[in-house]
Amino acid sequence: MSSAGRLKVAVVGLGRLGRRHAANLARRVPRAELVAACSPAADELAWAKNELGVPHVFADYGALLAHPGLEAVFLVTPTTLHPRQILEGLHAGKHVFCEKPLSLDLAECRHVEAEARRHPHLKVMLGFVRRFDASYRAAYERIAAGAIGRPIVVRSHTLDKHDPSGFFVRFSGTSGGIFCDMSVHDIDAARWLLGDPEPRRVFSTGLIAVHDGLAAHDDIDNGMAICEFADGRIACFGASRTLAHGHEAMTEVTGTAGRLTIGGNPRLDRLDIADAHGVRNECTPTFYERFEDAFLRELNDFVDAALDDRTPPLTLHDATEATRIGIAMRTSLLERRIVEL
Ligand code: NAI
Repeated sequence: MSSAGRLKVAVVGLGRLGRRHAANLARRVPRAELVAACSPAADELAWAKNELGVPHVFADYGALLAHPGLEAVFLVTPTTLHPRQILEGLHAGKHVFCEKPLSLDLAECRHVEAEARRHPHLKVMLGFVRRFDASYRAAYERIAAGAIGRPIVVRSHTLDKHDPSGFFVRFSGTSGGIFCDMSVHDIDAARWLLGDPEPRRVFSTGLIAVHDGLAAHDDIDNGMAICEFADGRIACFGASRTLAHGHEAMTEVTGTAGRLTIGGNPRLDRLDIADAHGVRNECTPTFYERFEDAFLRELNDFVDAALDDRTPPLTLHDATEATRIGIAMRTSLLERRIVEL
């Protein structure tokens, strides 16, 4: 524990999500002190200094890890860097929060798990933000209390609003494709809500409807996948980068005695608008507006886990399993076959 009782933390990566995490850590996580930031981009470091007052900025991750007194790093970097940066963080004696997914390679996931076991005093957690969302938690608790009987089928989709800037095409170079990048949230939620069943086989399909540049990365902008678990239960996943109206994250769990649906109406707020066009709601524009509270809770919970020496609510093995299913879905898409796990 730091002398002031606050955890001295750094953010690594200050892009689309890194800036959000940095601002939250600077202003809205009372038990954290954002002492440093790291990015190869000078303008991002200038932003951290000027907008957030971050006292120390580094272009090099190794130099950041050597900063005296630093206790934890928050990695919000391209996915291809995650495993190496987690390992370097652990070897430097830091607690590590890392954005999802853990890696795009199963052997790397397992290596990170093994190394983390060798550093049991350090906390490592992946940012599966839905586990920190009030509605997902309410569903989990109701299922655990038997409210829908035995949960048997999950249908879950994540759909992004069409972004004409080409961001998704550029992002695809390091994201691992729509299933490993996006569906990994749905996969983790399905595993969690079904009680961690063992996956047996997957089949997926998809197409490029709009973003032709994705072909260069073997990626798609609309996909569907089905995962069968060893006990026969089923999860069905949808993913899109081309939605016209906004961002949707929906998860439905059907059990033997009922059904729960999270995010069935992707409304931005509780305002119902009635006018000459009909009756409607505004839609959440991006994932951030939908999960803003959960992103904040996730950071606070991780800081509490590090300071109070508590086990984070999800394990590295959960992150490995989500990646394992995501990779199988990508393989099924590319090889046009059922993949046995
Ligand atoms: P981005 O491309 O907008 O940002 C990446 C950042 O990493 C940039 O600031 C870049 O300068 C920095 N960077 C690149 N190389 C670096 C290095 N060697 N050391 C330090 N910083 C480096 O990407 P975005 O969308 O912010 O995604 C970052 C991560 O967050 C990805 O792994 C992604 O999967 C995850 N993510 C998670 C979401 C969630 O819902 N939990 C939502 C969006 C992204």
